[in-house]
Amino acid sequence: MIVTDKFGRPLQDLRISVTDRCNFRCTYCMPKEIFGRDYPFLPKNDLLSFEEIERLAKAFVQLGVKKIRLTGGEPLLRRNLPDLIGKLSVIDGLEDIGLTTNATLLEKMASDLKDAGLKRINVSLDALDNQLFQSINDSGINTEKVLRGIDKAVEIGLEVKVNMVVKKGMNEVEIVPMARFFKDKGVTLRYIEFMDVGKTNGWDFSKVITKKQIFNELSREFELEPIDPDYIGEVAKRYRYIGTDTEVGFITSVSESFCSTCTRARIAADGKLYTCLFASKGFDFKELLRSGVNDDEVIKQIIALWNNRTDRYSDERTEESAKNKDRIEMSYIGG
Ligand code: GTP
Ligand code: 5AD
Ligand code: SF4
Ligand code: SF4
Repeated sequence: MIVTDKFGRPLQDLRISVTDRCNFRCTYCMPKEIFGRDYPFLPKNDLLSFEEIERLAKAFVQLGVKKIRLTGGEPLLRRNLPDLIGKLSVIDGLEDIGLTTNATLLEKMASDLKDAGLKRINVSLDALDNQLFQSINDSGINTEKVLRGIDKAVEIGLEVKVNMVVKKGMNEVEIVPMARFFKDKGVTLRYIEFMDVGKTNGWDFSKVITKKQIFNELSREFELEPIDPDYIGEVAKRYRYIGTDTEVGFITSVSESFCSTCTRARIAADGKLYTCLFASKGFDFKELLRSGVNDDEVIKQIIALWNNRTDRYSDERTEESAKNKDRIEMSYIGG
């Protein structure tokens, strides 16, 4: 079944956050001044259980979702995550399960994740230089640990991509070193424009480094050719280093928004469904599930929400709208 929104965009892609906690405090996502020791993260009972996630996932797959991506916070902090992947991987009609992680626990967990049915991993890594890396995420963890996680995942046959958020004054010195490093490894690197998600990261236009700027910098050293999107709604603009099979991508939410093909729904760790990364209000599926409704009622509710969807935040972004701070945090909704 295909469910479309007010602009005809089908519901195809579901992202589920399994925890709002993280062992990093990236300045652009969870600034440590706000996400400190006394930050009120969700209590355990407010998280969807694996059974509840599985039930929702089945409903979404019946409505046409083919891809599910697990996110956080840091999803590998959720206990027994491979058990959830095992439950999802046997859902009839679900073609793809991915995970977005900072990879600090990946070396240890990669094999269990793969055995449970995970296919793809996107690793967040903003710098190779250890000091810079630690100044961005305040974790005290070495980049080697992340790189070992990436190597392990590649070695056992998971498809791995690396995400680098680029922010002016933070890590532009790493644009070319990261490209060289991951080109040599044959791993896809994607540059993400710093976005105005949430209300705490101090975003403004002047801190954004655009795809064009990054592309120009790369072009001085590498020859790149564009690649057609794999599917409608693909978020990254993809290129290939000429003469290789290795790709590099750009996620251009600010300079070239892609709302017209956005097919994603997002479930936060507490079961609220959001139809845009920049939403301020979600629909509480935890409450609905725990009220004892049957699956038909769950499905009806998803259809009603998607049919009424009109989100196109990035298309409409202005200096003014970016100042409206009534937005959920990235660590809560997942990237
Ligand atoms: P695949 O293409 O399936 O590998 O996944 P992905 O690129 O969608 O997943 P990933 O979690 O790696 O996303 C990378 C980043 O792209 C996210 O963290 C966001 O920063 C950005 N992004 C993803 N989806 C959207 C979206 O719908 N809207 C906006 N504005 N940004 C998005
Ligand atoms: N702008 C762009 N990307 C962000 N991410 C987190 N916060 C932001 C932001 N403000 C990225 C992470 C990760 C993905 C899930 O989202 O680095 O790769
Ligand atoms: Fe944690 Fe990812 Fe946010 Fe960094 S971007 S604080 S790793 S959830
Ligand atoms: Fe989709 Fe909202 Fe991102 Fe636009 S801003 S692409 S509608 S999630």
